[in-house]
Amino acid sequence: MNRKPTRRQGRPPAFAYQPGRKGLLRRRSAENILHCDDVPLPRLGERFGTPLYVYSASAIRERVHAFDRAFRKVPHTLCYSVKANSNLGILRLLARMGCGFDVVSGGELERVLGADRRAAGKVVFSGVGKTADEMQAALKAGILLFNVESESELGTLAECAARLRKIARIALRVNPDVPANTHRYISTGLHQHKFGVRSGEARGLYARASGSEHLKIAGVSVHIGSQITEVAPFALAMERVAELVRDLRADGHRIDYVDAGGGLGISYEESASTEFSDSIAAYADALVKPLHGLKVHLLLEPGRAIVGAAGVLLTRVLYRKHNDGKKFVVVDAAMNDLLRPALYDAYHEIVPVRVDEPPSPLREKVDVVGPICETGDFFAHDRELPTVHEGDLLAILDSGAYGMVLASNYNTRTRPAEVLVEGKSVRVVRRRETVDDLLQLET
Ligand code: LLP
Repeated sequence: MNRKPTRRQGRPPAFAYQPGRKGLLRRRSAENILHCDDVPLPRLGERFGTPLYVYSASAIRERVHAFDRAFRKVPHTLCYSVKANSNLGILRLLARMGCGFDVVSGGELERVLGADRRAAGKVVFSGVGKTADEMQAALKAGILLFNVESESELGTLAECAARLRKIARIALRVNPDVPANTHRYISTGLHQHKFGVRSGEARGLYARASGSEHLKIAGVSVHIGSQITEVAPFALAMERVAELVRDLRADGHRIDYVDAGGGLGISYEESASTEFSDSIAAYADALVKPLHGLKVHLLLEPGRAIVGAAGVLLTRVLYRKHNDGKKFVVVDAAMNDLLRPALYDAYHEIVPVRVDEPPSPLREKVDVVGPICETGDFFAHDRELPTVHEGDLLAILDSGAYGMVLASNYNTRTRPAEVLVEGKSVRVVRRRETVDDLLQLET
């Protein structure tokens, strides 16, 4: 009998089935129970209620180490992209590991400073619409780098820095005009997208920036999109960046940093055959090769690749129903808790938290849907799942990135609690909202 924890390929081992205690004693009703690290998920569901985000600290650490191993041959800093999951508990964990951060708003900057003030020196500030207030807060905090996206923004930043008598270190975000095979909402590196400046314009803008005593040219940055699972677009973008670095140096600028952005995809599919360590190695190769000989410090802004597979959304089956032969499983989580399926038609694997051992052959095709009054409120369409019953717990996998951060209060639903598990220890890193919390802001 093989009752070892089972591990799906390509994902951290953090979420694995382990034999249930009841099963060990009474073999006839044996079952396997999905755990996060050493903690059975049903225990978390009972203690903290559902829907509930559950994160594994060990999985997050493992991914950070994987990045560091893959890039060990070049000087680099991992600037975790806060937008993927901005929970303070997670930011603290990453800060303790020595990570820097990529922020896109004053709010995200405050979170990073709240997690660890000393991290400011490793913060890069990206985004097409930074306000003067946000720039000033970042200048006061002493961040590492502003990734500037337009000529007007350069002007505003220079004014802010002059007002504060500070010098802003800058990189221009170039738009390398490289197609990335991903959802059109999250592809960013083509000239028709709002991001960055055209490569052809960049040299002129660097020349203008060098005329300001309050701007210090420090690097070049690029980001071509998110959930990119092939490495060729990254390599192509990097080749264009390397060419620009050479040109800028020839123009007399000092370029110490190349910020490669984020975007490395993860496998959401059950059948994925690539191990994360292989895909990160290929990714590192794609970025590092074009930069050979340039002696730059590489900044990386991964978000999803660090936290995506390290989280699940735990939800309970409320009702089963049939309409004209179609079967629905209505769960207590909804599109307000995890928006990705509704917004991008994104696939998330859904698994029952308890499975019979040996597994029951009973399977059925169902739609897994939430309680919100929209047809777009779904987690899966026509998905073949083991038969589930009312009251059962399900885990929506790979929900650690762009899950809670995209949650809303639509339908006056309170957002889920979040727990961070490390080995046997469980910490509530955000309590469940109450309706009172929501109403407090309204007059
Ligand atoms: N750096 C910049 C400048 C970015 O715009 C992003 C993501 C990242 C880094 C991090 O990308 P990652 O490594 O996580 O792919 N809500 C979407 C994803 C939006 C990504 C936006 N920018 C989703 O749920 O798939």
